[in-house]
Amino acid sequence: MENSFATRMGKVKKSFIREILKVAGDPEIISFAGGLPNPALFPVDNMRAACVKVLDESARALLQYQTSEGHGPLREFIARRYRERWGFDASADEVLVTSGSQQALDLIGKIFIDAGDRVVLERPGYLGAIQALGIYEPEFVQVELEDDGMDTARLAETLAERRPKFIYTVPNFQNPSGVSYSRERREEVARLAVDSGCYIIEDDPYGELRFRGESVPPIRLWAGANCIMTGSFSKTVAPGLRVGWVYAPREVIDKLLIAKQAADLHSDSLSQRVLYQYLADNDIDEHIAVIRDAYGRQRNAMVAAVKEHCPPDVKCTEPEGGMFLWMTLPKGLDSHALFDKAVAAKVAFVPGTPFYTDGGGANTMRLNYSNSDEEKIHEGIKRLGRVIKDAVAGGCA
Ligand SMILES: Cc1ncc(COP(=O)(O)O)c(C=O)c1O
Repeated sequence: MENSFATRMGKVKKSFIREILKVAGDPEIISFAGGLPNPALFPVDNMRAACVKVLDESARALLQYQTSEGHGPLREFIARRYRERWGFDASADEVLVTSGSQQALDLIGKIFIDAGDRVVLERPGYLGAIQALGIYEPEFVQVELEDDGMDTARLAETLAERRPKFIYTVPNFQNPSGVSYSRERREEVARLAVDSGCYIIEDDPYGELRFRGESVPPIRLWAGANCIMTGSFSKTVAPGLRVGWVYAPREVIDKLLIAKQAADLHSDSLSQRVLYQYLADNDIDEHIAVIRDAYGRQRNAMVAAVKEHCPPDVKCTEPEGGMFLWMTLPKGLDSHALFDKAVAAKVAFVPGTPFYTDGGGANTMRLNYSNSDEEKIHEGIKRLGRVIKDAVAGGCA
């Protein structure tokens, strides 16, 4: 029976992070492994009120099948936010609601990728994109992510030599690295994509979670119709709702809609209605400000703890927003080899290699700070620092 499975299933691995989350389920383990928002910040009471209201007012209608495009007022809310925040000429027709932005990535893979097509990703890149797009059997070409964005000289060569179908990027507080693109890098990526007639997938679940520095406009500002944006309410409201979206030119939305109809007819309409009611009755910006403030403090705690407890040649990014930071160990140390020792010391992280499609990144790891309070962060990094120091002393490779 084993050979009944399609060959493509042999090429895509189980999400390593989801496997790690099982290990990290032990309550004594301080886990920096998941990518979870802080549940203490979920707007439970206001969500309950929204839920009761929509069920009282229109239960029968909203429990019925709905349109594939998504709830109209919610699409308009998303389009209006693009208009108001960035001055984009966005209309609800250019927004498709998806089951999380993860589904958006799957649908994008479905409509664009034939086996063997090239797809450009950052190096390291978002594991969920590697998994979602990988199903469609592209050849991934990773371009180094530097401190302020993708290496654009390398990107220019890659576009000329490899003619990719699209560039996938997370320009704000990237998962896994926490790195953000400068304005110059965004403009340059946009220019290169437009000049070579290549789409950019701009995945932006973290853009609103900036706790330092100035917001920088999306790449779409410069790339226009070459850009397909994906977004999500997972990090600003709650991930369990599974509400994300694609904002793209109409001709792309039309194709995505066919793929969406084939996949699931439409996203959960109860979630969409409840979310819309919540957004209509509450000030989302006030709520996001609370999240930003908390994550800023949690990030500060983690950066400070790394400086205090890790050897000086351990480097970490100092993100201006989002939920992750990226640690680089001294050359020769292998974070995979450290993982079991860290779990024995009751702390967990994600080793860096799954974020590289070429097997690189052995001495790197991703650390999540949004799902642990400051005290846990301090204690967890102290444990991790001890494991790293022991490895350095023992020459653990
Ligand atoms: C960069 C990026 N894109 C997309 C997603 C998917 O999020 P969701 O499907 O919850 O919207 C995540 C989740 O962590 C992410 O980090």
